[in-house]
Amino acid sequence: MEKPFGRDLASAQRLNQCLHQHFHPEQVYLIDHYLGKETVQNILAFRFGNTLFEPLWHRQYVDHIQITAAESATVEDRGEFYDQTGVLRDMFQSHLLQVMAMTLLEKPRRWNAEDLRNARRDVLEAVVVPPAAELKRCVVLGQYAGYRQTPRVRPDSRTPTFAALRLCIDNDRWHGVPIYLRSGKGMKTRVSEVVIQFVRPVRMPFPVPTGGPEANRLTLRLQPREGICLSFVVKEPDTADGTRLRVSKLTFDYEKEFGKAALPEAYERLLLDVIHGDPALFMRRDAIERAWEIMDPIIAATETWDDQPFEYPLGSWGPRQAEDMLQTEHDHWQNPEDV
Ligand code: BG6
Repeated sequence: MEKPFGRDLASAQRLNQCLHQHFHPEQVYLIDHYLGKETVQNILAFRFGNTLFEPLWHRQYVDHIQITAAESATVEDRGEFYDQTGVLRDMFQSHLLQVMAMTLLEKPRRWNAEDLRNARRDVLEAVVVPPAAELKRCVVLGQYAGYRQTPRVRPDSRTPTFAALRLCIDNDRWHGVPIYLRSGKGMKTRVSEVVIQFVRPVRMPFPVPTGGPEANRLTLRLQPREGICLSFVVKEPDTADGTRLRVSKLTFDYEKEFGKAALPEAYERLLLDVIHGDPALFMRRDAIERAWEIMDPIIAATETWDDQPFEYPLGSWGPRQAEDMLQTEHDHWQNPEDV
């Protein structure tokens, strides 16, 4: 079954009950095609396969995490569906929460569908649903200019085509690390990525420029130009005025490493898994319902707001109010030209 799976918790529960009356759980495959993307699966290989990174995947070393799924495409001919759905249901309840779960999960004990799906579910279980009174500080909604002129969109529509959301995870590993999620249509470029922003070194044994050194940043580019980029600080050689630092980068590029046609379509992988009977990369009933449990109160509250969505120009990075959400002055959304 392809998403959308319901439009809120109650309808998803009804659908699940209905499905499970007639099918065994192992006969049901609920698709979230982001889980079928090679680059999303690689998050686990990269983290657990490298001694260098796994220990750093922890609140002690991570300042915050950003997950972006931006599209330059607009709603196009999906006006009727989209206007009743909006970005929070269309992208956050499914793709963004699943990518977040893949990024933050605990190491599964065994490499099988049950353990992997439990690990993803546990992340969602640990999400703190922001209380209604705090929502305005955790959510920014946008609508691209011209959306209301889309065929079969209401002329006074308040459906968001962009959202930015800050979530907190209440577990030992991620307590206190803000997780920023952002997605929109009509944006500057198409890009999906996970950015792990590490903390700054606490002390440097030599003078550093004002503002301090840049902190390390790891960008997992899910699409397009799939790859990984790690930024780090080096000393500029031969400077007369003390130690000058510069940010340099190590990059990995799928196309260079594996060739042009190396990455299959997510659906190729998922259909093959159905044929093999492997549900590891599919949603499970409990995770879908939990994802709605997280999003329902957020969606319900935002539907009562009369000051949002903020309009943003087509081809931008969304409304400027989304910037204000990042907690400290040196944090900002990482856009591809910054990589
Ligand atoms: C779908 C959404 O699930 O994902 C679409 O309904 C969105 O609105 C699409 O465009 C994005 O998928 P991808 O793989 O192109 O990032």
